[in-house]
Amino acid sequence: MVSPSASLLSSLRWLFGFLFFSSSMVEIPPAENFSNPLASTQFRTAYHFQPTHYWMNDPNAPMYYDGVYHLFYQYNPNGATWTAYMSWGHSVSTDLVHWTGLELALTPSDPFDISGCWSGSATILPGNKPVVLYTGLDTVGRQVQNIAYPKNLSDPFLREWIKPNYNPVIEPHQKINAALFRDPSTAWLGKDGSWRLTVGTLIDEGGLAIVYKSKDFMKWVPAENPLYYTNGSGMWECVDFFPLKEIQGATKYLLKVSMYDTLHDYYVMGTYDEERDIFIKDDASSDDCRMWPMIDYGRLYASKTFVDEAKQRRILWAWSNETSSVADNVAKGWAGIQTVPRVLSVDTDGKRLIQWPIEEIESLRREQIHLQDIELKTGSQVEVRGLKVSQADVEVEFEFQNLTGAEPFDANWVVDPPKLCREKDAYANHGGIGPFGLLVLAADNLEENTAVYFRVFRAEGSYKVLMCADQRRSSKKSELYKPASGGFVDIDVKKDGKISLRTLIDHSVVESFGGGGRACITSRVYPTILLNDNTHLYAFNYGTETVKISELKAWNMAPAQIS
Ligand SMILES: *[C@@H]1O[C@H](CO)[C@@H](O)[C@H](O)[C@H]1NC(C)=O
Ligand SMILES: *[C@@H]1O[C@H](CO)[C@@H](O)[C@H](O)[C@H]1NC(C)=O
Ligand SMILES: *[C@@H]1O[C@H](CO)[C@@H](O)[C@H](O)[C@H]1NC(C)=O
Ligand SMILES: *[C@@H]1O[C@H](CO)[C@@H](O)[C@H](O)[C@H]1NC(C)=O
Ligand SMILES: *[C@@H]1O[C@H](CO)[C@@H](O)[C@H](O)[C@H]1NC(C)=O
Repeated sequence: MVSPSASLLSSLRWLFGFLFFSSSMVEIPPAENFSNPLASTQFRTAYHFQPTHYWMNDPNAPMYYDGVYHLFYQYNPNGATWTAYMSWGHSVSTDLVHWTGLELALTPSDPFDISGCWSGSATILPGNKPVVLYTGLDTVGRQVQNIAYPKNLSDPFLREWIKPNYNPVIEPHQKINAALFRDPSTAWLGKDGSWRLTVGTLIDEGGLAIVYKSKDFMKWVPAENPLYYTNGSGMWECVDFFPLKEIQGATKYLLKVSMYDTLHDYYVMGTYDEERDIFIKDDASSDDCRMWPMIDYGRLYASKTFVDEAKQRRILWAWSNETSSVADNVAKGWAGIQTVPRVLSVDTDGKRLIQWPIEEIESLRREQIHLQDIELKTGSQVEVRGLKVSQADVEVEFEFQNLTGAEPFDANWVVDPPKLCREKDAYANHGGIGPFGLLVLAADNLEENTAVYFRVFRAEGSYKVLMCADQRRSSKKSELYKPASGGFVDIDVKKDGKISLRTLIDHSVVESFGGGGRACITSRVYPTILLNDNTHLYAFNYGTETVKISELKAWNMAPAQIS
């Protein structure tokens, strides 16, 4: 067992940072350029993972191996914009919070990936042997699936990767569009002794997940049936498929797809028929995959999970992209962050995914603010003082006496929550129970703020809880994408009588978890007030009914060490 200690890692951190970044990366952009406000370091994240500079997108092959967590990611080592000619960045950590950057793990080099090393996943083979499958763009631009394995299993950092010459191991067969065939999943072993993995593609306007099988992990053949096919959804990317929980003797599986047409991640629960290699979704879920719940209703895409053997939990990583222009990204010299790793679990009824930030992130909590029993009367804003708002973790619980004041719900609204967030404008259109929530990264005159809030509606026989993150006033800067994002929180608000909200604020990202992690919204924001580091946090209630903050806990967050 080679298990590097934290002190070994931290002493090597500086060495690696110096050695590898100086050799493989060139032309570090100026850290500060206040003539272009977007180039300010104030927008860099302090505890959300991002490389020191340039473009990052999908997380790749996250894994835990011999005491070390590995995160690989889609990386452009030549600039802050996307290019097809992708490499794999590589960072390691012992706690998922502090990260050491290593040299690139994969770069385009061979006929089977000469035009780009795209996304992929890790599988730990018997005998504790990690292997990675990834999509390569070959000499004619076809997307093929390749294998790479570590050169030296005794190196706990797995710095060097070998691409065997029997690559590619999976090529698109004639029915498949070779330009839409990518992102192999982690493999799983069937009872019949064969390995299986799935690759996303598109056939006849329908997204699908094709299963490939192998006895030896080298020779792969397509299974008779796709794992799942759906008509009319567009291309499926970054398919993830895994067992989540035993419920009444049956294993609940989760299928996650990243839909290229909408650039959102969706999931559905169900069962897995191993005989036929098909996924059967629960009856309660829509046939239309675009109606499935989203992993996150904001800026999150290409998520990928892995099993953390050290703590017996499944963790989700995901890319959150910039909502600034390409020119702004070039000016600031970087683009793309990862959301905070989230632990996945399921509601006791097996219907809803619950996502919660890894407990390790709480090690960064510093000075705490604690408030209790604060009445938020209609139209009120209460400032939460004493925090460095640009780098904080806020947990708040809102309570109401009863739901008699809830506005009626129109069943048609269920198809487009962001539209509901826009039209039932929190600032202008005051409801009954809500809008109430937080105004984060706010100017003292509220000229800039991001509103994260709830609104409760009375539907036929139940209540609907809408959660929104409204970015429309997030910055005075105009050439930004400033949407209102939203989704419904699946909680029994009548029984609970309260709703919780946790918001991780980190300079240009506001990552929120509603109803204990039953709905998540990540926003990217660039308020100009951040340049003076003069931001405020308010709790607000613009509904007609009084809402009480039963408890609010907030912490300043220390920066993570990320080299
Ligand atoms: C700073 O940004 C401005 C505006 O984008 C640009 O014209 C200028 O060249 C930049 N300066 C440096 C040193 O990068
Ligand atoms: C493999 O890694 C270990 C630990 O870093 C090192 O001691 C050993 O020399 C390496 N072996 C080779 C062949 O590079
Ligand atoms: C998909 O839907 C289209 C239009 O609704 C239909 O023409 C086509 O036959 C469907 N394809 C499959 C495989 O079901
Ligand atoms: C990235 O951000 C832009 C807004 O600038 C948005 O329109 C786009 O959908 C985003 N892409 C992804 C993959 O999230
Ligand atoms: C509901 O709560 C409001 C206060 O928000 C109170 O005035 C009203 O009497 C309550 N109604 C019932 C039926 O309890």
